[in-house]
Amino acid sequence: MHIDVFTLHPAMFAGPLTESILKRAQEMGALSISLHDIRDHTEDKHNTADDTPYGGGGGMVMKVEPVVRAVEAVIASSSGVPVILMSPQGRVFNQRLASELSQESRLALICGHYEGFDERIRQTVVTDELSIGDYVLTGGELAAMVIIDAVARLLPGVLGDPDAPIKDSHATGLLEHPHYTRPPAFRGMTVPDVLLSGHQANVERWRRQESLRRSWQRRPDVLLKAALSDADRWFLMELAQADIAERAQKDDRPPQG
Ligand code: ADE
Repeated sequence: MHIDVFTLHPAMFAGPLTESILKRAQEMGALSISLHDIRDHTEDKHNTADDTPYGGGGGMVMKVEPVVRAVEAVIASSSGVPVILMSPQGRVFNQRLASELSQESRLALICGHYEGFDERIRQTVVTDELSIGDYVLTGGELAAMVIIDAVARLLPGVLGDPDAPIKDSHATGLLEHPHYTRPPAFRGMTVPDVLLSGHQANVERWRRQESLRRSWQRRPDVLLKAALSDADRWFLMELAQADIAERAQKDDRPPQG
């Protein structure tokens, strides 16, 4: 996969792209990234890439010409390459979108100020708009890095364990089960016996149930969309009944203090 990033701050990308798995993904040829400085496509002597908004108000707005020129210098409009604007107004990025984007051979990400982009940028070069969550960052750079990271780890060969993306939290529709590694006991906290038992079917059942329990406790919303077996549904009913019983017991308790 090749990713073109358009930004006023290419130096921000140095850390994340030159360490760990993203570094390896590039070294092994699964991923290549070109950073394009939008300022290189300005034409005035001050290299102005942003300006105050028409109609007044604070903040700076990304100018249309440098952004459109920068993108058009690299990506032909007929190429079909997704050109994605990083913005808190976009569709909210998630594992499904990461998986969809990982099928592309090429992507372009445009980063800009949080205050906004001249609307004509959207009307000319942008094909999609993504947000990484309902909060506002100072600019789109960190959002682009999040998307690059989530997509890169899904590219064939990038992760040591080829099944990892299939087992991930959210990939299955559920949160992942808890994990343990050596030592078997730490400060009195021991690893569940089943994980040391060597009985793979029991391990798999425990993992599935703990995955359901975590999802139920932390993100019940994901259970509505997850593919659940009859056994899963029984287990969830037991969890719900245990919760109801626990709450009833609390309600019965005389007031404290
Ligand atoms: N730019 C500013 N905030 C953002 C967000 N939440 N997602 C993507 N780009 C952004």
